[in-house]
Amino acid sequence: MSRINLGVTGDYHVHLREGKMMELVTPTIREGGVSIAYIMPNLTPPVTTIEKVVDYKKQLQALSPKTTFLMTFYLSRDLTPELVDKAAKLGAIDGIKCYPAGVTTNSQAGVDPNDFSDFYPIFEAMERNDLVLNLHGEKPSTHNDHDHAHLDDTNVDEAIHVMNAESKFLPALEKLHKDFPNLRIVLEHCTTKAAIDMVEKINAERKPEDPIKVAATITAHHLYITIDDVAGNPINFCKPIAKLPLDRQALIKASTSGKPYFFFGSDSAPHILSNKVRNEGVCAGVYTQNNAIAYIAEIFDKYNKLDNLKKFVSDNGIGFYAIPKEKIVNHDELILVKGENIIPTLIGEGECVVQPFKPGQKLSWTVEW
Ligand code: NCD
Ligand code: DOR
Ligand code: ZN
Ligand code: ZN
Repeated sequence: MSRINLGVTGDYHVHLREGKMMELVTPTIREGGVSIAYIMPNLTPPVTTIEKVVDYKKQLQALSPKTTFLMTFYLSRDLTPELVDKAAKLGAIDGIKCYPAGVTTNSQAGVDPNDFSDFYPIFEAMERNDLVLNLHGEKPSTHNDHDHAHLDDTNVDEAIHVMNAESKFLPALEKLHKDFPNLRIVLEHCTTKAAIDMVEKINAERKPEDPIKVAATITAHHLYITIDDVAGNPINFCKPIAKLPLDRQALIKASTSGKPYFFFGSDSAPHILSNKVRNEGVCAGVYTQNNAIAYIAEIFDKYNKLDNLKKFVSDNGIGFYAIPKEKIVNHDELILVKGENIIPTLIGEGECVVQPFKPGQKLSWTVEW
């Protein structure tokens, strides 16, 4: 097989920023083989108004007229149930992203994952409007709390750090699903076997004829790297951080399984190179957009799972989000083509340059519309 039709592809977790960065990366959605892009709201300030989300979408659409943009709000105290109702009725948003406060880029305005109860009226509004809740599933680190502690401090056992932040979050996901059984929830960018097991467990408890309520996205980069690849290479640093070999194996197994509750969300998160490579304050985020589908195809090919690729990058996401045909602005189908594909070492110019994941390396598939 040297040409594979992947249908109307989707990437259900995309960061496009604003200004020059937005102008640089938005056209690379289509270049990377993605038709439907689900857009993250962590701008500065975050996207929390109808006016802003409508204007943002208009700017993105002008930069890439053939891309279908699905938009989101940022869960914060600025949202009200009335606003959620109105935004849903207008079709201005498809979901709301929940960032625990402090865990990643522009998440200062986020939510305390130890106590979601203040947001229950928002979740009720989302449930009745059938909006999707996108969870950044990490607990905030407590690793610096030891500054004033004593050496016999037993709390150190319970410390939350980048390696356990996701698994420690999973009980909160389970509780949310229990409290809002009809709310569709996506655990974004899973990085652990524990997260995959939780999503499997929740779906095993669902009657097979019932619709999926809890799904997970998996990125391209987490199918390649583990913590060893992050140590010493800030280009590979992102949140949640890549974990252990057994975690990566679970992610590959889940994404190539064809199961309808696992689908592609690249979490492509561009930062200018000088913010990725510096002595401190390295920005979290891996940019994969310009070869999004090719990175994924490489892994599916390697594990002899190309037959399930269309499910992961196309059917499963469209199915879970229940995207109506008329909402898709362009119905071109993507063709995956066998052929050498060298990843550029940099994109952009001047100050606004971004280093893609695996710079200068070779992939064995390209894409064609
Ligand atoms: C990003 C941008 O350029 O828009 N900033 C950056 O890379 N320094 C936005 C961001 O990273 O949040
Ligand atoms: O690594 C990340 N970068 N993870 C996120 O959740 C946010 C993203 C960003 O916006 O840079
Ligand atoms: Zn996230
Ligand atoms: Zn993200």
